[in-house]
Amino acid sequence: MKHYEELSGGEGRRVFYRAERFNAKTLMSSISPIVEMDDRSFDIYDISMSGISFVSPQNFSWLEDMNKDVPLQLKIGTTEVFSGNGKIRRIEPHENQHKVAVELTRGFLDIKKILAQHDDLALQQAVTIGLSDHSRLVPAAYKEAIGDAVYMFRSIHKVLDKVEADLGRDDSRRSERIKDIILACETKALTRWREISKKCLKITEELGDDSLAIAAVKQYTEMVLTPEILPGASWDRAYSKPLGYPGDYQVMNYAYNLTLEGDTAYAKFCHRLGTSTGEFIATRMTMTKQAIARLCTEAAARGRSDFKAASLGCGPAQEVANYLKTPNIPLPVEFTLIDQDHDALSYAYNSTYPEVVRLDGMAWVRCLHATFLEFLATGKLFSKLEKQDLIYAVGLADYLGKKRSTKLVNDLYSNLRPGGTLIIGCMRTSETSLKWQVEYVVDWTLVHRTEQEMFELAENLDPAAKREVIADPTGHCHLLFVTKPE
Ligand SMILES: C[S@@+](CC[C@H](N)C(=O)[O-])C[C@H]1O[C@@H](n2cnc3c(N)ncnc32)[C@H](O)[C@@H]1O
Repeated sequence: MKHYEELSGGEGRRVFYRAERFNAKTLMSSISPIVEMDDRSFDIYDISMSGISFVSPQNFSWLEDMNKDVPLQLKIGTTEVFSGNGKIRRIEPHENQHKVAVELTRGFLDIKKILAQHDDLALQQAVTIGLSDHSRLVPAAYKEAIGDAVYMFRSIHKVLDKVEADLGRDDSRRSERIKDIILACETKALTRWREISKKCLKITEELGDDSLAIAAVKQYTEMVLTPEILPGASWDRAYSKPLGYPGDYQVMNYAYNLTLEGDTAYAKFCHRLGTSTGEFIATRMTMTKQAIARLCTEAAARGRSDFKAASLGCGPAQEVANYLKTPNIPLPVEFTLIDQDHDALSYAYNSTYPEVVRLDGMAWVRCLHATFLEFLATGKLFSKLEKQDLIYAVGLADYLGKKRSTKLVNDLYSNLRPGGTLIIGCMRTSETSLKWQVEYVVDWTLVHRTEQEMFELAENLDPAAKREVIADPTGHCHLLFVTKPE
């Protein structure tokens, strides 16, 4: 503590006491306060007991109003929280606008009281928005389908809870029996779930561009159906997106590893339903692995001395790990794995490295921690690499519109060696596609494409390049293969 004699008082301008100013947006974060002067309203920038400042566009001239006494009102939303008079004392530039400081000449701002009013109004607003019911915009047939789905999930939940409770804790086959029952439930549920999914997809496609109806249907689904399946780890991770982006490498791993995650039978059942729904992730990975194997064999047969492949948005790179498990590979291979997620690369490296060691100089895996956006903007990423025999991006263009995807395809193609192959894997449009499940149930937007749209991704490439689109066995995704002429 300082002694009285040590207290230094003010110096210079600070001799004049100025009431403490608070940033209005920090203080009132839910509803920004505004000031009304001369029938015009402006966002308040800061606020003190004796004045305010507000932000005004540059095309307003305040010079004539300088030092004039004018009436003003402060509002939070539509509620007036202060009425008085003030004089403009200062105008200064502020981020391409003007910041205008007003000193109150009649009345003062009771900041504590204004804050309490703001908090009350924010609470009222939260309740009003939270309870606003847009379900009238949800088609009746959709509500019925969602009701059927919820009924199904709750019935299964009840059955599985009972099975778990009835099976003796010391039954040596307890976990095996529970697993059998989960799989039996899942077989039945999957057929019904697919019917419901098809119906809901059709209804949501019929909403067209009606953004209000789409938002209402989405909100309805997330409120009524989504909580029923979130006990399943696969759905929960897809919905909660813990790494901040959808479709992370762990979600992919759920589909590759197929372990029955979950603490209860119902949680395991839901997880399993999710991995069965995501079966296409494993089937397209197998198709990619088979393409790597075929291209390597063909390259070796043509007398090539090595094979270079790059995967963009590689995730866990399961197809690379699987290919490298081949007892003998026909020629030296070098994989370059590129992803924006460091953890995905660590996973990919750890799972492929033992095979690289086993293959003893016949295989290399290197990882590049980079975003393809840098590459798209500058074309630089691939300039660090040699031309490749195979470049593939599976599950990446699903997040890009046509313009960006086409640019990506063009750039990747130009980094192929003569005779090289480009593979682009995308979600497939069909009347049984997973579009509704991902977009409405777990808030994961994926661009779906028709076969024609897949071919259009390669529309700017050399006409002599060979193009082929092959759907995976589930029909939920397809791969575009483009082969550069020799
Ligand atoms: C749906 S996963 C597919 C992973 C893998 N190809 C597979 O099929 O298992 C998409 C991957 O793309 C990566 N990714 C997303 N945006 C990216 C970007 N801008 N640059 C590089 N990678 C990206 C993600 O980190 C994720 O690992």
